[in-house]
Amino acid sequence: MEIKTDIILGDSKKVLKKLLDNSVDFVFTSPPYADQRKSTYGGIHPDKYVEWFLPISEELLRVLKPTGTFVLNIKEKVIKGERSTYVMELIIAMRKQGWLWTEEFIWHKKNAFPGKWPNRFRDSWERLLQFNKDKKFNMYQEEVMVPMGNWAKTRLKNLSETDKTRDESKVGSGFGKNISNWLDRDMAYPTNVLHLATECNNKNHSAAFPEALPKWFIKLFTKQGDIVLDPFMGSGTTNFVAKRMNRNSIGIEILPEYYNSVKEQLEPIKLVLLEPEQQYESTELIGSNGVR
Ligand SMILES: C[S@@+](CC[C@H](N)C(=O)[O-])C[C@H]1O[C@@H](n2cnc3c(N)ncnc32)[C@H](O)[C@@H]1O
Repeated sequence: MEIKTDIILGDSKKVLKKLLDNSVDFVFTSPPYADQRKSTYGGIHPDKYVEWFLPISEELLRVLKPTGTFVLNIKEKVIKGERSTYVMELIIAMRKQGWLWTEEFIWHKKNAFPGKWPNRFRDSWERLLQFNKDKKFNMYQEEVMVPMGNWAKTRLKNLSETDKTRDESKVGSGFGKNISNWLDRDMAYPTNVLHLATECNNKNHSAAFPEALPKWFIKLFTKQGDIVLDPFMGSGTTNFVAKRMNRNSIGIEILPEYYNSVKEQLEPIKLVLLEPEQQYESTELIGSNGVR
């Protein structure tokens, strides 16, 4: 299977207009957070964030396939002693734009730096907001199953009789629980909390996320040969992971320094170690029966 990784230098707001309608299977990205990292690529004021993001999310809505998913990694910061509300405002505005806000995952940063603040504790999680165009979207849940672990041995061992029989939902929603179904299984579906360390091999970007983050979501929402898009590519983490997982990908980055660095890694310069390439006379191989 031939896998393509297309990277484009430019502003997503403009570049996305060149992509075809309903052409992308999965969008995974971490945009610049409001007023963050001013020294590297400019911050957007929290009051202007929704206004800045909406034209981009409008394009993402157009290019995403109806079966596709958009996962947005974002976290509001504390400004003048208060949590900013721009992420919540963005969710509401995107719903008005036509997106369904289908789920929120939490990335628990297992190794957040210790510290002390007078009125709060250290920040050790970020949001991963899931948006869809349609209630029916591709999701390959079996790909991210986790071992049952000790939970199965301890809690499930002492099941009550009610737990052992199907306990139809009292509210009549049609859902029921039958925990005993899981007794003999080794694997379970994960929760919507991901426990991942912040370290990443990629030292080329000040805000790179760990490879495990796009990897988990790419497994969950795509299959081999699908197209993954990161409109805020940075050091290309999403694209490199997608390539290794046999997914096609598109990355858009506004800063030439990051774009060039990804480009160089995708097309490594051919090193001639011993001697320049030469044309040799071809030696024809003749088989034992004399037939070529
Ligand atoms: C949080 S970083 C992404 C880091 C990336 N996930 C990684 O692992 O390296 C956001 C990136 O978006 C880029 N960016 C900011 N505004 C942009 C725009 N309008 N279009 C394209 N890229 C943009 C920044 O230069 C920055 O590299």
